[in-house]
Amino acid sequence: MKLLFVCLGNICRSPTAEGIAKHLARQNGLSMEIASAGTIAYHQGNPPDPRSQAETKKHGINISMQKSRLLSVKDLNYYDYIIAMDKQNLADIQAIKPKSCFAKIRLLHHATKEDVIDPYYLAEDGFAKTYQSIERGIKALLDELV
Ligand code: 4NP
Repeated sequence: MKLLFVCLGNICRSPTAEGIAKHLARQNGLSMEIASAGTIAYHQGNPPDPRSQAETKKHGINISMQKSRLLSVKDLNYYDYIIAMDKQNLADIQAIKPKSCFAKIRLLHHATKEDVIDPYYLAEDGFAKTYQSIERGIKALLDELV
């Protein structure tokens, strides 16, 4: 099973999702390939936002080694699940989806259609709320997949 988490910059929400999913998969003995990407290249090569690193660290998760990268068409043909953080990310992924793509592409909170709020321009507590939202979504996703 191969999962790709996608947000806009790949420095806040999707790196957090990647970190939480890897952590929970490891804890539960699940063998999964897990990564993340962004729909813009602006932060390409950069590590996650220091505020996301600090928030995940509070939960014992280290995301400092991750590097932002741009989502590619290759990703859509490679991963089984492409998980978008918000509806704009979902639309941006659908816009480059090739005919050959069999991946399931959906929102993290696909049952409620809730967006994971972009914390980039929010105060510090925005990152805590974003973390909680992502953790809840990942737990539901892993429960569904196993
Ligand atoms: P992310 O947050 O999509 O959760 O990584 C953002 C990061 C950067 C920008 C916007 C959102 N930006 O405009 O540079």
